[in-house]
Amino acid sequence: MGRTFSVVSGKGGVGKTTVAANLAVALSKLGEKVLLVDADVAMANIALLFRLQSSPITLQDVLLGESDIYDAMYSGPFGLTVVPSGLSLNAYRRINPDKLKHAIATVKNEYDYIFVDAPAGIGDNAMAAMAATDEAIIVVTPDPASLADALKIKLVAERVGVKPYGSIINMVRKLPGEASEDHVRELLELAVLGSIPDDPEVRKSILLKNPAPVVVRAPNSPASKAIMQIASRISGIQIRQEKKGFLTFIRSLFKKKK
Ligand SMILES: Nc1ncnc2c1ncn2[C@@H]1O[C@H](COP(=O)(O)OP(=O)(O)OP(=O)(O)O)[C@@H](O)[C@H]1O
Ligand SMILES: [Mg+2]
Repeated sequence: MGRTFSVVSGKGGVGKTTVAANLAVALSKLGEKVLLVDADVAMANIALLFRLQSSPITLQDVLLGESDIYDAMYSGPFGLTVVPSGLSLNAYRRINPDKLKHAIATVKNEYDYIFVDAPAGIGDNAMAAMAATDEAIIVVTPDPASLADALKIKLVAERVGVKPYGSIINMVRKLPGEASEDHVRELLELAVLGSIPDDPEVRKSILLKNPAPVVVRAPNSPASKAIMQIASRISGIQIRQEKKGFLTFIRSLFKKKK
């Protein structure tokens, strides 16, 4: 049976969409069968990141009760399946977010991992995203406002019956006064799954004419490497090192001569 994670935060803009999208890609890259669902039905950022903005059927149609979740699935990189959220404001006003739980339950056995990108905070859509999954990953930035809100979201998650699985510290700059992994672990009383550095390659990924998750576009960037480590930790799958060192280079020359 697959594991289902909602990717949540109290404070907005801390990197939930970035983490959900890239972790989903990273686990696909490790060979796992992964579904990524954009449950931020007001903003629909996943569609932009995967260039699915003109998808005819989306999660909105599923939450309106007009389509099946299978009809809203599209192919992403490394065999990932993506359910984008849809951009219609009119549909957004009429959706029933509680239908998400049934939709996820329908496909749970067909995937190793399902990631649900949630909206920030504790509104109806955020609560529905959490309630649709078994475990929550809390994304924080290493500042007091984000951490205070993370504490709140952890309590809310527990109240809706979702197990807080761990936190991810994003946009780490190692500035004086930033909360460390130990601080975050102690404050949230929760495992820290990893830290992702503040990396301009992440921002570029969405700004480019042809956007793509950073793990696909710049796999050797510091953020991509950190995300792959987190995926490895979650799945227990070792990352195969690409043989690119000096010795490999010399060996390749030798092979060519032979
Ligand atoms: N590690 C990082 N380094 C640099 N920029 C980052 C990093 N993580 C996220 N960003 C950037 O920060 C911005 C917000 O990220 P993102 O959209 O993932 O946050 P969010 O929590 O999903 O926001 P919202 O609450 O609005 O849904 C984006 O422009 C993204 O590219
Ligand atoms: Mg988001």
